[in-house]
Amino acid sequence: MSTPLQKELQTEAAKRRTFAIISHPDAGKTTLTEKLLLFGGAIRLAGTVKGRKVGKYATSDWMEIEKQRGISVTSSVMQFDYLGHKVNILDTPGHQDFSEDTYRTLTAADSAVMLIDVAKGVEAQTIKLFQVCRMRGIPIFTFINKLDREGRDPFELLEELEQVLGIRSYPMNWPIGMGKRFCGVYDRQRTQLELFQGDDHKQVAVRKVEGYEDQVIKEIAGEHLYEQLGQEMELLDVAGDPFDYEKVMRGELTPVFFGSAVNNFGVQTFLENFLELAPAPEPRKNSQGEMIEPTKENFSGYVFKIQANMNPAHRDRIAFLRIVSGKFQRGMSVKHVRAGKEIKLSQPQQFLAQDRDIVEEAYPGDIIGLFDPGIFRIGDSLSQKEEIVFDELPTFSPEIFAKVTVKNALKHKQYQKGIDQLTEEGTIQVFRTTGAFDDTILGVVGQLQFEVFEHRMKAEYGVDIQLQRLGFQFARWIIDEKIDPSRFRINSQLVTDKKGNYVALFESEYALRSAMEKNPTAQFLTNAP
Ligand code: G4P
Repeated sequence: MSTPLQKELQTEAAKRRTFAIISHPDAGKTTLTEKLLLFGGAIRLAGTVKGRKVGKYATSDWMEIEKQRGISVTSSVMQFDYLGHKVNILDTPGHQDFSEDTYRTLTAADSAVMLIDVAKGVEAQTIKLFQVCRMRGIPIFTFINKLDREGRDPFELLEELEQVLGIRSYPMNWPIGMGKRFCGVYDRQRTQLELFQGDDHKQVAVRKVEGYEDQVIKEIAGEHLYEQLGQEMELLDVAGDPFDYEKVMRGELTPVFFGSAVNNFGVQTFLENFLELAPAPEPRKNSQGEMIEPTKENFSGYVFKIQANMNPAHRDRIAFLRIVSGKFQRGMSVKHVRAGKEIKLSQPQQFLAQDRDIVEEAYPGDIIGLFDPGIFRIGDSLSQKEEIVFDELPTFSPEIFAKVTVKNALKHKQYQKGIDQLTEEGTIQVFRTTGAFDDTILGVVGQLQFEVFEHRMKAEYGVDIQLQRLGFQFARWIIDEKIDPSRFRINSQLVTDKKGNYVALFESEYALRSAMEKNPTAQFLTNAP
């Protein structure tokens, strides 16, 4: 017998779809996000999510640096309603340089949309983000974008998904022509055509057909494209994978959609299919390995991201919490498990681009922003009545390093405060050298984090810093009974992390390998133990 609250939780969780869009810069993520928000009626005008020109500025970009550079640095969350669903889009930084933040955001998503430029195929950043999704085994949906431009052969792209990412695919629709000759797509599930037409090619018309052999297609697309579609469909039917929902759910098979985001072509069908197929919030394991169901009455969640100063008028920090179970109500008291304290959640916020609404209620799958006076850390768990702890989120090995110094020694105190607070947000790792000099080294996943760090140290703490890039490329946490620093001197350096763990930084793969040979008893971990 379920209680009224459990029933409510069941209904509300079932409506939720929480996902992130993963892509390489320029594939069209901002454009697609904007179209999705338009369908949800969340924004009235396209072109407001991100303005690339001076004067217009982005709704999802909060920080000054983002406005200056016209890029989205920090991940944000957008919620909208569509056909009875509550859709939560987690925005991941789209610049070529990204950070641990981007990865961590993916841990809060229940599924991912992988956006690919038809001309470019699978690109570097897509691969990295894909791997994080793969690690979590979440379903991945693919949107192949920019069909209004000449691009690569669709079969070649599907082959690339398999070769490069190791995921099999099931095309939900198939393009008829491409670029100048792009007619539209054939929807395999619903056996219908979606036509790309009108003088400006912006009108979308849907035409029901009997199948891909229907003569209507010949009339519309012409003999050549009709023949081509027939051959390609036959090939897919014979050689392609069948649709298998279980495999989609395990992230082994990706449903593929073709379209053109900027023309709003194929976006609505994609959204509707996605909402139907994508999973609602699932149970999550707590640190004891028990599954915490969304319908569990006691509220629980974890902090996956902390961001400072989203509102320039207030020097506040926001901790982003993913709700796992129970119902959130404004003003409720919860346990901050790590701190062993009871806290009141009085000013929670939900996000739609720049408007930050105070949220009264929220359910599993939702993300809420909690005002943070400095009490939260990434990975913290909050729970009601009992103590529910979710495992700390993974950290990712930094790949770019710099020595940091303060320009004006009198500012040392603010400098230290800035380093402590900003590194706590999790985008930057801080190390100390172990030799005679006590130097501070910062490690990041993407170069942009250094620029953001430098900017924020000045803007928020009034400290000018100097960053001197170091030649290291790899960090390994060293576990050994006795560590001999002299063995980490050639093209490498031994440092300690915040918790005092030993970490060795290496300039090359060769340096790493030779250190491993010299220290056969040591373990070399890519992440903090
Ligand atoms: P991102 O967030 O992934 O970096 O990509 P964004 O949406 O900013 O799109 C990158 C460029 O690709 C933009 O052009 C955008 O208009 C274009 N684009 C997006 N979808 C499509 C599509 O379906 N077809 C075509 N042909 N182009 C598309 P831009 O020139 O960089 O910017 P703008 O001057 O158009 O604002």
